[in-house]
Amino acid sequence: MDKLLITGGGELQGNVRVSGAKNAALPILAATLLADGPSQISNVPHLHDVTTMIALLGSLGAGVTVDESMTIEIDASELTSQRAPYELVKTMRASFLVLGPLLARFGAAEVSLPGGCAIGARPVDQHLKGFAAMGAQIDVKDGYVFARSDGRLKGARVVMDMVTVTGTENVLMAAVLAEGRSTIENAAREPEVTDLCEYLIAMGARIEGVGSDTLIIDGVERLTGHPYTVMPDRVECGTYLVAAAITGGRVKCTHARPNTMSAVLDKLRAAGAEIVEADDSISLDMYGARPKAVDIRTAPYPGFPTDMQAQFVALNSIAEGASRVTETIFENRFMHVQELNRLGADIQIDGNTAVIHGVDRLAAAPVMATDLRASFSLVLAALVAEGKTLIDRIYHIDRGYECIEEKLAGIGGEVQRVSGR
Ligand code: EPZ
Repeated sequence: MDKLLITGGGELQGNVRVSGAKNAALPILAATLLADGPSQISNVPHLHDVTTMIALLGSLGAGVTVDESMTIEIDASELTSQRAPYELVKTMRASFLVLGPLLARFGAAEVSLPGGCAIGARPVDQHLKGFAAMGAQIDVKDGYVFARSDGRLKGARVVMDMVTVTGTENVLMAAVLAEGRSTIENAAREPEVTDLCEYLIAMGARIEGVGSDTLIIDGVERLTGHPYTVMPDRVECGTYLVAAAITGGRVKCTHARPNTMSAVLDKLRAAGAEIVEADDSISLDMYGARPKAVDIRTAPYPGFPTDMQAQFVALNSIAEGASRVTETIFENRFMHVQELNRLGADIQIDGNTAVIHGVDRLAAAPVMATDLRASFSLVLAALVAEGKTLIDRIYHIDRGYECIEEKLAGIGGEVQRVSGR
């Protein structure tokens, strides 16, 4: 099992090229199943989760070709299966996103229920509620969802009980081929949902209210494949901005989309960073200063993203002052805290809030990654801890961060991948 060996040291300085967004690429790749012809999807990040999604599409009978620039052509004109097996879904929950497209296109789908994961139970009841509202017969048996519709799905009004990103995406992908009008109320407004809408519209879908909490979809008979470029990854970008901030350094993130990151940029400014935004880049400079502690409360977009919570807990752990970080989206997303405390941080958990007293220094110690974003918070802490920190189970990181060693080395980080048992 691979590990990362990180030597804490000076200020990070340099440029990072932001990759395509994992959480936009995954629903967009699933949506290629809706078209009866090929789509070319570019700016797809080279990540394990993307590989898993491509393998799933291939197993359903879609034609898949990848060129040297990671532009992926998917042709779903002839599918041979409507079954997404447990073996694939268990490794990547977002595989569940093929359910809506398969049901809409073929009237049948058998998709393994995604298990819970480290950060929470993560049920899919809202996805199933939406499909049932559109007339699908839903049976859950032996760990699988069996969905069927007699003829075309019927447009329906769906009100989400809570804001759910993939729930909105799955129901949206079913609605675009349904007969008549659907509305999705209390819809997720995350930029990745908007990116999916733009791709669907490019394929011929009719969607109003893009970017709002109410999506109005008028179903069409068919969608045709279309080229699309995935949006930049706002979480990866935010993570590298924090990497520079925690070390007092400076970084320029290129190929970024600042207007999807306002809540994070505001908090970095409050921590003392100078931020300059251009059309497709963000520059941060700390001028060698120690960050100031900032309070965080996660919320659905445009609020502060839960996927940046662990990174700011790391930043606050060495900041000047005390802070409170409250996680409102997932019930168990503080597993990085005990690992950070092993590095010398002073953090207590009080319900869904981490109470952090910034310390002057962290010291290297062996730690273990537990989930995707938590693992990078350990990387951030290791970049400022005195000594060499060995982080175990970094397969979590490889799921969500492309070329992490190269990107960190590019801004002066001392990172080495250690292959081990
Ligand atoms: C998406 O997960 C992201 N994943 C997550 O990113 C992200 O943390 C999350 O949205 C919140 O922004 C992808 O887009 C592939 P939810 P998703 O449905 O859609 C509850 C990462 O690190 N809920 O918005 O699965 C659920 O339990 C990952 O890249 C139900 O109760 O999250 C949670 O408490 C981690 N029933 C809350 O809603 C449902 O049917 C939000 O979950 C659906 C969700």
